[in-house]
Amino acid sequence: MKISTDLKLVQARLQSAKRVSALTGAGISAESGIPTFRDKGGIWEKFDPSKLATPEAFAKDPKHVWEWYALRMQAIREAKPNAAHHALVHLEKRFSTPNSFQLITQNIDNLHRTAGSQNLIELHGNIWRTRCLGCKVIRSLSAVPDVLPPYCLDCGNLLRPDVVWFGEALDPQAIVDAEAACETDIFLVIGTSGEVWPAAGLAHQAKRAGAFVVEVNTQRTALSEIVDISLLGKAGEILEKIMGIKEEDLFSH
Ligand code: OAD
Repeated sequence: MKISTDLKLVQARLQSAKRVSALTGAGISAESGIPTFRDKGGIWEKFDPSKLATPEAFAKDPKHVWEWYALRMQAIREAKPNAAHHALVHLEKRFSTPNSFQLITQNIDNLHRTAGSQNLIELHGNIWRTRCLGCKVIRSLSAVPDVLPPYCLDCGNLLRPDVVWFGEALDPQAIVDAEAACETDIFLVIGTSGEVWPAAGLAHQAKRAGAFVVEVNTQRTALSEIVDISLLGKAGEILEKIMGIKEEDLFSH
């Protein structure tokens, strides 16, 4: 297996780093069989986000929005974390002192947590949680709700998926924590097109704060111009090489 000069540089930087942060997007789950949003054949090519992922769409037709989320839940339930998710668990174990590792994801699929990641900020929420529009209580879901749309068992109001939709603000604490993670030695940007803000802004912020910013993606993105190194390839394959762990050992930690 040929290890490129860029890969060796990233490995060397990781050797001397005290803090590492990583921002992930839909591309990290592509090898688990979950479609991305903006690639050819991606979710937003088939579906109109304004009809499915906005508070206005939900207010107009909650059943329709829930049915779409139920379909996505069914697909996600079948998916397993891949080599890239597991590589990030190994990385977190390597940087085990407090505040030395932070994972930030835009994904709502829960695969980082299933793989075993601990220090995780879910910027866009989690598909396996509901939030009551009345009493605001957030609850975990263990399965797709039987009746759609679901209603709160406590107050009877409508439940919504606990995810961030277009036009909505992110959880303020998640933003504070994610921004703090930009003060780091290495900032990995994995499998994101870098087109959605404020998430994409974190890579800019890390760069301004002096981090060595490394992009891992199958193609160049909106962030390629500002990163220090772009490693082109599938996240699972690239992260496996960066970590220097054989595939058979990657899945146990
Ligand atoms: P996108 O679909 O915009 O981008 C996915 C990125 O992953 C692209 O740059 C691909 O080139 C790359 N990619 C695909 N397969 C890959 C692989 N095997 N390894 C590495 N990279 C790969 O997804 P996001 O950037 O995550 O928000 O999109 C951000 C947000 O837009 C999502 O969280 C979602 C969406 O609308 C909300 O729903 C609020």
